[in-house]
Amino acid sequence: MKFFIDTANLSEIKEAHALGILDGVTTNPSLMAKEGVKGKDSVFRHYKAICDIVDGDVSAEVIATDFAGIVREGEELAEIDSKIVIKVPMIKDGIKAIKYFSDRGKKTNCTLVFSAGQALLAAKAGATYVSPFLGRLDDVSTDGLVLIEQLVNIYQNYAFDTQVLAASIRHSMHIVRCAELGADVATCPLAPILALLNHPLTDSGLAKFLSDAKKMSE
Ligand code: G3P
Repeated sequence: MKFFIDTANLSEIKEAHALGILDGVTTNPSLMAKEGVKGKDSVFRHYKAICDIVDGDVSAEVIATDFAGIVREGEELAEIDSKIVIKVPMIKDGIKAIKYFSDRGKKTNCTLVFSAGQALLAAKAGATYVSPFLGRLDDVSTDGLVLIEQLVNIYQNYAFDTQVLAASIRHSMHIVRCAELGADVATCPLAPILALLNHPLTDSGLAKFLSDAKKMSE
């Protein structure tokens, strides 16, 4: 399973990259706004700065919601860097735009996916990634992991190339369950990625080894 970081914060991206386990980045307008990035030039410079840190795909989301606007904006975003993946919302014109981009060899990420039917349409249109938001489904008392399982099965049934990019991940067990279910990618904030490191038996075991090691040097 690939690990993407779901943030536009450059120091968090650098920290995850320095761990050596980072395969890409996803952003969205909320995450970009959180970094205080304002104006097209500054937004584009920020995407470029992200691309310069990581080796893998970087999702940049369009704001337009009409076909012509999505295509125009997506093409501009794709010009920033070859790592840019055009992130398009799951709406009718979004699906048309994904098909348009896919026919021209441009990578896309279909976002705001909450049902298997939506994900089927995204795959038919040729999306590179589909982003089911599992945490937001959990928020409304619906098991988001069930959707991940459905998408993995459906895409396997028909050998779709579209990758299941589990998004809206809130904690480390979401990551582990996504790996068990066969998600292609998990995009996570930095905290749940770092939380995977933790186990109290690792801490106590290491403390014991270090105290015993001191005995050897005495
Ligand atoms: O990038 C989209 C998604 O990961 C958002 O997560 O926590 O705002 O539901 P969240």
